[in-house]
Amino acid sequence: MAVIGLFYGSTDGATAHIAQQVAELFTQRGHTVELFDVAEFYPDAMEEFEYVILGIPTWDIGQLQADWEEVIDDLDELDLRHARIALFGLGDQAGYPLTFVDALAFLADRVEAQGARLVGRWPITGYNFERSWAVKDGDFIGLALDEINQPELTAPRLARWVEVVALEFGIE
Ligand SMILES: Cc1cc2nc3c(=O)[nH]c(=O)nc-3n(C[C@H](O)[C@H](O)[C@H](O)COP(=O)(O)O)c2cc1C
Repeated sequence: MAVIGLFYGSTDGATAHIAQQVAELFTQRGHTVELFDVAEFYPDAMEEFEYVILGIPTWDIGQLQADWEEVIDDLDELDLRHARIALFGLGDQAGYPLTFVDALAFLADRVEAQGARLVGRWPITGYNFERSWAVKDGDFIGLALDEINQPELTAPRLARWVEVVALEFGIE
């Protein structure tokens, strides 16, 4: 049974809500999830976990969510060589088809630069957008969720992604 640190930032609450659901799904599988809203905690707590999940919505046309923006440079001080990190991002593919879930990529790049191994890639099928920095080698580098245009797909996406992440964390 693993202990997972889940760090998220959320301006309007959607990402916070998803973070709760991700925690619940891992808890149902027998794991423990510690939740951190980055508005209240510095992300240096991330160093304490071998298994980490990060949640971020994209704001202001391709920008980091504001609380992540506040702490993003602090990530450059972290040693994450022992960590496996899975990311999920929220966005609006119809409203912002040229910057869909871009912030996912900006956050992923930072933690990967600190030595973290990224897990939990996700296929781009079933979405309708034009471009995204979060697509690398044909997949999203983490789970993309769209609570505005595809809320009905969130539960099945989460259920499948949590299985993928549990396997790639190597905790099941
Ligand atoms: C002003 C504004 C700008 C946004 N820019 C983007 C964007 O560039 N790309 C994207 O995918 N979503 C964008 N969104 C959509 C948000 O990511 C989406 O509403 C998300 O669910 C918000 O998450 P939160 O409630 O956790 O803050 C934007 C939303 C607003 C209101």
